[in-house]
Amino acid sequence: MQVLVVGQGGREHVLTWKLAQSPQVSRVFCAPGNAGTEQDGTNVDIAADDIGRLVKFAEAEKIALTVVGPEVPLVAGIVDAFQAAGLPIFGPSQAAAQLEGSKVYAKELMRQANVPTADFWVFDDSEEAVRFVNERETGLFVVKADGLAAGKGVTVCSTKGEAIHAIRDAMVHGAFGDAGKRILIEERLVGQEVSILALVDGRTIVTLETSQDHKAARDGDEGPNTGGMGAYSPAPVATGELMDEIIQKILIPSVHTMRKRGTEFRGVLYAGVMLTAQGPKVLEFNVRFGDPEAQPVLMRLKTDLFELLQAAAKGRLSDFPELEWDERPAVCVVMASEGYPGSYKKGLPIRGLEDAAKLADTKVFHAGTVRHGDQIVTDGGRVLGVTGLGTNIGAAKKRAYEAVKCIRWDGAWCRKDISDKARLMPCE
Ligand code: AMP
Ligand code: GLY
Repeated sequence: MQVLVVGQGGREHVLTWKLAQSPQVSRVFCAPGNAGTEQDGTNVDIAADDIGRLVKFAEAEKIALTVVGPEVPLVAGIVDAFQAAGLPIFGPSQAAAQLEGSKVYAKELMRQANVPTADFWVFDDSEEAVRFVNERETGLFVVKADGLAAGKGVTVCSTKGEAIHAIRDAMVHGAFGDAGKRILIEERLVGQEVSILALVDGRTIVTLETSQDHKAARDGDEGPNTGGMGAYSPAPVATGELMDEIIQKILIPSVHTMRKRGTEFRGVLYAGVMLTAQGPKVLEFNVRFGDPEAQPVLMRLKTDLFELLQAAAKGRLSDFPELEWDERPAVCVVMASEGYPGSYKKGLPIRGLEDAAKLADTKVFHAGTVRHGDQIVTDGGRVLGVTGLGTNIGAAKKRAYEAVKCIRWDGAWCRKDISDKARLMPCE
């Protein structure tokens, strides 16, 4: 059978690589893909948000299952368009994707479902929002654009001045376009963050192994926010007991309430959870696999990913066998372009990929790369997700950084402390 992965980052490379391992899958297409998906599958020159052409391609190639990586096509209704054409696809409908597409929608759902989350206030008028901040005792707020802002619409503030600046940036200066016309102001929570990914078929919830992302650009979680500079799995802070609490208090009521509202959720439900002194609280919902979390999590999955996602798409997770995992932890280190998360150059030749490929228990997932003739060159801010498995987190970290050492291009950099947080305890 032929399958199609939509997207072009590290998450789509791991999806392509893993789906290609299924004995049932003869070929994995990736649209538009990168230089890595081209090695493990076949790239198709169609943009991830060109839904009309993707439907035509899937019809022509008789695609047995389409798996969507990024949120933009999901929020734009790719699943509805495929279903209308009778094409099997894994992901939430446009209505259910509002869980990520609108932070106000997500907060209202959580309120209805009684899911623990930060207190929040919604504003359509900037001066009202400024007045609200001025009347409070502290400036410990998080200001969020309501709509999709490519992960950049969130400002964590320590002072009232910062909060007011963030409000004006979004609502007056249009930093996030229409996505920031409406904002949320949230109370600022403190604690460790974990990424909880679950497959949902409308009713049944199958959690994946836990992971932790590293969103800040520099070591020690300093510097500006990025799309994620690395991740590891499992996250030891998310103990079995905490996972039970997260399933009972967060995942079950959210999925149940979505169904009750008539917007059944199918796809990956990704809860960004903060482990606070008052228990786990949801920071955000995403409706897709995390990037880079998907790289270490799926590298550990032994179950056939095609069968699993097909079962979820068909509403058949309840009789799916228990997932099998590699017990060994995995660590993914993101190698980035000089200047990222600000502006950066593209087109720089990458050397050493063949040497890294020879290392055992290591896989270099491509994110921002493209092939120019016989050379692979940089094509994005996050360029590679170098992932290693080891008998413990320390060994996995060592493997990943050994592979990082093989690879170079002008200005390449990475955080040096990916997975060190694994030693911290909840609420530290
Ligand atoms: P989001 O896109 O909503 O997950 O926000 C991005 C990042 O901002 C999160 O991963 C957290 O590090 C931080 N953040 C979001 N909401 C809060 C909050 N209420 N309190 C503290 N930090 C937050
Ligand atoms: N790694 C964060 C995300 O995928 O949203």
